[in-house]
Amino acid sequence: MKVIYTSPIDWLGDRIRILDQSKLPDEETYLELENYRDVASAITELKIRGAPAIGVVGAYGIALGALKIESETKASFRKKLDEVMGTIAATRPTARNLFWALQRMQKVAESGDDVNKIKSALVAEAVKIHAEEKEATRKLSQFGAELIRDGDIVLVHCNAGPLATAGYGTALGIVLLAVEQGKKLRVFATETRPVLQGARLTCWELRKAGIPVTLIADSAAGYFMQRGEINCVIVGADRIAANGDTANKIGTYTLAVLARENNVPFYVAASTSTIDPSLASGEQVPIEQRKPEEITHIRGVPIAPEGIEVQNPAFDVTPHRYITAIITEKGIIRGELGEAIRGIT
Ligand code: MRU
Repeated sequence: MKVIYTSPIDWLGDRIRILDQSKLPDEETYLELENYRDVASAITELKIRGAPAIGVVGAYGIALGALKIESETKASFRKKLDEVMGTIAATRPTARNLFWALQRMQKVAESGDDVNKIKSALVAEAVKIHAEEKEATRKLSQFGAELIRDGDIVLVHCNAGPLATAGYGTALGIVLLAVEQGKKLRVFATETRPVLQGARLTCWELRKAGIPVTLIADSAAGYFMQRGEINCVIVGADRIAANGDTANKIGTYTLAVLARENNVPFYVAASTSTIDPSLASGEQVPIEQRKPEEITHIRGVPIAPEGIEVQNPAFDVTPHRYITAIITEKGIIRGELGEAIRGIT
């Protein structure tokens, strides 16, 4: 089977086209973003989301911001560029890929004295980051597909497909590639409250690819694991600390504990741009707190008493001891994850 991959981000030379994920699956709407502030809003409002995709679009946002700066001197160009970078950096705090991309763009901005050359170099760097991320997800999907057997039922959480990565996908990339190799798989997708990336995006992507998918409520995962109906869990990651602790969409930790209790392998799939060797453990990962309306409302419709107190962390941290293996573009790492991470970063 040949799977057709959706391209959520396209660089058009002087603007960025993105597929508006907040409208899926009802509408397939593309937005053209012409300035960096619109890019920042698109990231904050989840029009573009998923750690690798946020990194790629963040880099393009900086390139776009740089192109629009009308400064002759490097000093005033850099001052304005810092403002652009600050705005992009302030969008979402958890995904390591955004800050990894920002650091790369920062390094390019510091090189040379000719403002026009720096602008061109920033565009080239963003295009390079995009291409590298695509390639990384292809490679890690190939490694990960080796872990999947014909006939397996794979449980996935949130959305870690082409939409989230500007490439093959991480967790879902593995599924798509295994199917391309001729394996027959079934996917169980958690709906992923509060904003339903599983129900809206993963189901949409799998349906498009012709892969059988069963949607379940987040709270039903244990039921299916206990009955022996899940062969493995594969999730993506937003940030992986030096010891292997992994931050991912809220609810991932619960799935990992359930997987351990039920002897189901629990895999994390991520490109190495998601690894943050500067953090000793997951306790140091900044966790994004999002607005209460994501919980009190479903797609604009209130479902709770007005004014109720809410807490809405967007991510949680799965301690490394629950992770069977981490699948990266540099290979699959297992066992002492901290040691293995030092070997590949
Ligand atoms: O809030 P989101 O939709 O950006 O969260 C995304 C996730 O948690 C994904 O699982 C993660 O970014 C990995 S995507 C390859």
